[in-house]
Amino acid sequence: MNATAHIIDGKKVSAEVRAEIKTEVERLKSSGLVPGLATLLVGEDPASKIYVGSKHKACQEAGIVSFNHTLPKDADTETVFQKVQELNRDPKVHGILVQLPLPSQIDSEKILTAVDPNKDADGFHPTNLGRLISAKDMKEINALGIPIPCTPLGCMVLIEKTGVSLAGKNAVVVGRSLIVGKPVAALLLASHCTVTIAHSKTQNLPAVCREADVLVAAVGRAKMVEGSWIKEGAVVIDVGINRSAEGKIFGDVDFDSASAKAGWITPVPGGVGPMTIAMLLRNTVALAKKSHNARG
Ligand SMILES: NC(=O)c1ccc[n+]([C@@H]2O[C@H](COP(=O)([O-])OP(=O)(O)OC[C@H]3O[C@@H](n4cnc5c(N)ncnc54)[C@H](OP(=O)(O)O)[C@@H]3O)[C@@H](O)[C@H]2O)c1
Repeated sequence: MNATAHIIDGKKVSAEVRAEIKTEVERLKSSGLVPGLATLLVGEDPASKIYVGSKHKACQEAGIVSFNHTLPKDADTETVFQKVQELNRDPKVHGILVQLPLPSQIDSEKILTAVDPNKDADGFHPTNLGRLISAKDMKEINALGIPIPCTPLGCMVLIEKTGVSLAGKNAVVVGRSLIVGKPVAALLLASHCTVTIAHSKTQNLPAVCREADVLVAAVGRAKMVEGSWIKEGAVVIDVGINRSAEGKIFGDVDFDSASAKAGWITPVPGGVGPMTIAMLLRNTVALAKKSHNARG
């Protein structure tokens, strides 16, 4: 039995990525391009406010200029739509992030579709998701220069850090959300894995997971994936963020039992979480470069 899985240190990897981005931003600024990210927050949700605040702080540390837009919680779809259009037209803004979830009276799909695909910092625009699905492999995805949803991209960077070759491996993604499960499955497929997407209707989930050389858990249920579900030596990526009543954070994977079986595993906290913001910065810089090149 493998009693000591290697820990994939998302804090360390994200710090490395952010340092690289900072250097890149300095270089771009010296050639006259200042990457800019605009966030749009509708309402007063305390968690969303914290997330937006940490995105601005990360931008500041990387040298990316950030613009903080807020609208009242009772704003209607048209008001939010007009704000997005305004940001689409603003040449200082290269990336737009609409903080989700939007209040229930707002047509979220209309708003996310209104974001210019060339400014889609989160990579959630249907055009970008469609291009992600259409691409044959990672080489083509990278060549297209499309923004890739941040958490899935963060998962892939962490998997890459293990040095495990993905071609031909069995990958199981538990969860099929548009934010995590589906795009991470598309990226694993583009990396030539044989991909299974599991969800709440999947039968015999433990047996499905036991087939996984790479297991990505994105469910939202604390410690659901047990050590007995893990294939010996597997790469285990835990996306889950579950808060206990005492405010403690747990992943979707039972870390203690899973790390006795896995070859590589991400902790929670300190695994996928820190990667999401790093990937947002990476997308923003890539979009800024693309718009600069397009303008000549
Ligand atoms: N680290 C980060 O930065 C980051 C970013 C985003 C999300 N997260 C975390 O990742 C987790 C998932 O987020 P999400 O937005 O993808 O959640 P979501 O939209 O609620 O999707 C959860 C998925 O899990 C599936 N599921 C639920 N119960 C299940 C069960 N018993 N067995 C198998 N599958 C089950 C659901 O299946 P159905 O489709 O059949 O309902 C659904 O596809 C959450 O803990 C969230 O906080 C972390």
